[in-house]
Amino acid sequence: MATERTLSIIKPDATKRNLTGKIVAKFEDAGLRVIASKRIHLTAAQAGEFYAEHKERGFYGELVAYMASEPVVVQVLEGEGAIAKNREVMGATDPAQADAGTIRKEFALSKAENSVHGSDSPASAAREIAFFFSGLELVG
Ligand code: CMP
Repeated sequence: MATERTLSIIKPDATKRNLTGKIVAKFEDAGLRVIASKRIHLTAAQAGEFYAEHKERGFYGELVAYMASEPVVVQVLEGEGAIAKNREVMGATDPAQADAGTIRKEFALSKAENSVHGSDSPASAAREIAFFFSGLELVG
């Protein structure tokens, strides 16, 4: 399997509860390397642009307000099959459906406040990484 890069966001519900280190440990334990990381507070406009593909969904307004409510930690993770591996470590979107040992099973509060985001395809990963980082900030 090829080495890939994927975008991860540690979301407001997790940063607020001081869970950043515990979540990063889950990625590292799974063999993913953090090759870029920063803590930022998104504006509603930035969160809305990042999640533009969900604009027509009923939860879009709630999602944008939530993502701009507290700081987030955006990271680029690198490793063999990193996109799928990150999604495996995160678990299902809804924590009630997530497997034991996954980040969302252990930490997420609800389908909306689900602690982490991860890119869902190579195309999304490329767009989402470029949304937050310049090439100079990726240090593998
Ligand atoms: P994420 O993987 O970041 O992708 C889109 C986000 O929308 C998702 O995680 C959830 O935080 C949120 N989301 C998805 N479905 C719902 C829903 N039914 N109600 C509220 N938020 C949702």
